[in-house]
Amino acid sequence: MNQHIPVITVDGPSGSGKGTICKLLAEATGYSLLDSGALYRLTALACIKAGVNTADESQVTQQAQQLQIEFKVTPAQVLVLLAGQDVTQAIREEVVGMTASTVAAYPAVREALLQRQRNFQQAPGLVADGRDMGTVVFPAAPLKIFLTASAEERARRRVKQLEEAGVKGVNSEKILQDIQARDERDQNRSAAPLIPAADALVLDSTQMSITEVHNSIMAEAKSRKLLAAGEN
Ligand code: DC
Repeated sequence: MNQHIPVITVDGPSGSGKGTICKLLAEATGYSLLDSGALYRLTALACIKAGVNTADESQVTQQAQQLQIEFKVTPAQVLVLLAGQDVTQAIREEVVGMTASTVAAYPAVREALLQRQRNFQQAPGLVADGRDMGTVVFPAAPLKIFLTASAEERARRRVKQLEEAGVKGVNSEKILQDIQARDERDQNRSAAPLIPAADALVLDSTQMSITEVHNSIMAEAKSRKLLAAGEN
């Protein structure tokens, strides 16, 4: 139905820079933004709050189906509300990320969140950030990016981010291990594993700055006529 509304999909592992790149792309194109990871994080948080055993797929799926969520755009940031409560910070906690990776492995949970994600495809276009945006959710997207970086570089970025946020005693070895454990789960699950779509442009950002990644995606969007040549 929405097939004519362009979607730029950006998939890749945690810490590859997808979040930052997607925000920049949305600003530069005027497209809206889907942070699909937030939906899995919200499901995880809803389970934690409800005391649901995350080993029980049907109970987790029920939480995903019943999610009452809202993304409130403010000039400073996008607020994420769960059942009317501001959970913007809470969903970013490490424990929620780990739980999200567990609940995201359930096919019924992914199915429950599929239509919600597709509803974000609104004019003038959408930048979709996730793991299976190009393979499952928007397979007809005219521009698919798979953004990656070495696990060591992604751990280094995460440590820097935590230290800049004033977190003391950051354990870089543990962060690298967590990243590797999450990669392993995301790549090896049978439901929508983290793999590049056959028609994705693979960018390795290990040695690239954010500006270089942004510029190369914008150049690609222009060459595919998604944007006018003058747009930056
Ligand atoms: O990108 P993120 O760290 O916010 O994602 C949280 C978890 O959700 C991550 O472990 C992978 C999972 N996820 C997914 O399976 N599919 C998506 N489209 C987005 C995230």
